[in-house]
Amino acid sequence: MKIFSELETLAAFSSASGPGVTRIVFSQPDMEARTWFKLLCLGAGLEVREDAVGNTFATWRGSEPHLARVGTGSHIDAIPHSGKYDGTVGVLGGLEAIRTLQASGFRPRRSIELLLFTSEEPTRFGIGCLGSRLLAGALDTAAADRFEDTEGKPLSKIREQAGFSGTLDSVKLPAGYYHGFLELHIEQGPLLERDGIQLGIVTNIAAPSSFRLTIEGEGGHAGAVLMPQRRDAFLAAAEIALAVESAARATGAIDTVATSGVCEVFPGVINGIPSRVKLEFDIRDTDPQRRDTVVQALEAACDRMRQKRGTAIQIHTLNSDAPATCDFALIDVLKRAAENEGCSHSSMVSRAYHDSLFMSRIAPVSMLFIPCKAGVSHRPDEYASPQDIANGVRVLSDALSQLSQ
Ligand code: GLV
Ligand code: MN
Ligand code: MN
Repeated sequence: MKIFSELETLAAFSSASGPGVTRIVFSQPDMEARTWFKLLCLGAGLEVREDAVGNTFATWRGSEPHLARVGTGSHIDAIPHSGKYDGTVGVLGGLEAIRTLQASGFRPRRSIELLLFTSEEPTRFGIGCLGSRLLAGALDTAAADRFEDTEGKPLSKIREQAGFSGTLDSVKLPAGYYHGFLELHIEQGPLLERDGIQLGIVTNIAAPSSFRLTIEGEGGHAGAVLMPQRRDAFLAAAEIALAVESAARATGAIDTVATSGVCEVFPGVINGIPSRVKLEFDIRDTDPQRRDTVVQALEAACDRMRQKRGTAIQIHTLNSDAPATCDFALIDVLKRAAENEGCSHSSMVSRAYHDSLFMSRIAPVSMLFIPCKAGVSHRPDEYASPQDIANGVRVLSDALSQLSQ
């Protein structure tokens, strides 16, 4: 299969030298990777179009092109110092699945469409699944065009400079556009490998939410300001982070997770008291009510820190999304495909989010997971074996052929 060398080629489009991959949306490596990918699609005889936010559609036209299409795909943007397989297996695997069907002489009745979604990762704009949210009509488009990147530049300017013009309103897909959407992805967790199962068929995708806190205290000299007089913004941040961790553990559910992965301390010097902190939280659960108990604990911890440490705290909700339920019929198609290809499979929940979370608002969806070594993801040592990737591709081809007939 060509996908193995293509995954290596794609990994080389990175703004940091190895071992990890860094490919932030609309950065030079991302734009170069997109150009390379479009050439691969054209080479497979697909029709390529891009929308106003850079979502890329590569279509294998069916014999009845007016019918609702069958979609598959994922993302190629990569968080800093991450791996080669997150998202890319679904994009290049979708292409490989199409080429496999072409080589077998199959002719689809419904068109099969491969998608590369823009900015599944939140790295640049602070919100994940930007492209699929817009496809699903799940964002206020005027507000989205004002989203600023980490350097304060608005999306409107950035996408225009990347060559994607037109209004964001034009991105939303019409109702009934897809007959079904399937995303192939690495599991990003340890269960398939641990249980020796070749494929996971996703039934639900957890509900993510994220928050940005700005904590204002008072700066000063690290030697001269006495401890009782301090209003240290970082110490307030530390207490809030620990309170959120306790609340996530206290639900007792394996599906509740909370992470504070961004903590920027100002002025960030060893002999100055922190006067301001930007702190971000990512809180998720399969059960949104249970997730919201952790969110309430976050709010309560902020109130306590306002009292106890005299810090001013603002909480900005970046996103608070509902979970997705996968489509029963598509789950059955994937099960049949796995059986046709002789692969063991089991149903599972996705605790990571994916573009399928938003595609589920406009189309029946399901996802196909392949094992990844030790469940590692979002790290340079992320790894999926050629055998597992090949299984995913074969089962995806089979499922696409069933759905497009
Ligand atoms: C996707 O990358 C996620 O954070 O779940
Ligand atoms: Mn990811
Ligand atoms: Mn991903």
